[in-house]
Amino acid sequence: MRSFIGRDILSLKDFERDDYTRIFEVCEKLAPHAHNRRNTDLCKDKTLLTAFYQPSTRTRMSTEAAMHRLGGHVLGFSDSKMTRAGDFYQESIKDTVRMLEYYADVIAMRHFQLGAPHEAAKYSSVPIINCGDGWGEHPTQVLTDLYTIWRERGTLDGLRWLCVGDHRMRTMHSIGHAATQFDMELDVVYPPDMAPTAEFKQELRDRNVRYNEWKSTSECIDKADVIYIEPVVQADYTKSRVDATDTKKGTTPPEYQITRKMMLEQAKRDAIILHSLPRMDELPVDVDGTRHARYWIEASNGVVLRMALIALVLGRAE
Ligand code: CP
Repeated sequence: MRSFIGRDILSLKDFERDDYTRIFEVCEKLAPHAHNRRNTDLCKDKTLLTAFYQPSTRTRMSTEAAMHRLGGHVLGFSDSKMTRAGDFYQESIKDTVRMLEYYADVIAMRHFQLGAPHEAAKYSSVPIINCGDGWGEHPTQVLTDLYTIWRERGTLDGLRWLCVGDHRMRTMHSIGHAATQFDMELDVVYPPDMAPTAEFKQELRDRNVRYNEWKSTSECIDKADVIYIEPVVQADYTKSRVDATDTKKGTTPPEYQITRKMMLEQAKRDAIILHSLPRMDELPVDVDGTRHARYWIEASNGVVLRMALIALVLGRAE
């Protein structure tokens, strides 16, 4: 098994089966600290820096919460406009990271540019954790999703996923890469202007992923063990920030929605629904009270998963 010590977490493309199981084992060891709200001192002499060039609620704060639970220290920025990277100087990733590496032992980065964390990793002597890069990937989110399913089902093999929404999304890419390592069959539904690239589909085919395209959720929801839904009323992830418009709500076509009625009448009785959040109207709030919803548990698992990743890359869980 490859060591995690000092490793950058940039893409799930690099991950093998053993990597997932190792992370999940560490999650199980550390979970009581999060669940019982009792911090450990495992990383008391370590510091995390969060460099977020795009808005975030869950990823940044769960990563910071994870480091606090590990007894470590946290600093960073959540608005790059207050740094030299976001003002007149537009300081480069290289120059910024050559400073940040002295301020912390691990850097968690979200950026609107595809590959920005990879660029940072070229210059950083401390591990970089990709917390979402443009339309690229979102490895810590999808590791959280996989951990949530693994806890529930005890395996990631033999499950069929319905992935609906914007397939340019970084989560959809990370799911595709994870599917190369497990017996996961993917049924995908997306609007024509939110299609995955031909290169991405070919890459999955080349690695034997069973990948089936459908026109609407109602055509294939009956097959799904896991339903993964993302918005189609969507921000542009290549921008540092997109503000709200008056017309954005209530406009998801039914082909890209999962409703309570569909879950009752068409879905498998034990199907579970995951959503990385935030949501729009693709997943109405009356689904929240059903036995299928797992997105709040997913959010709680996000702290545990990030505790495990930080402890592993800092060599505190090897
Ligand atoms: N799931 C997720 O990435 O949420 P945030 O954008 O709030 O971090």
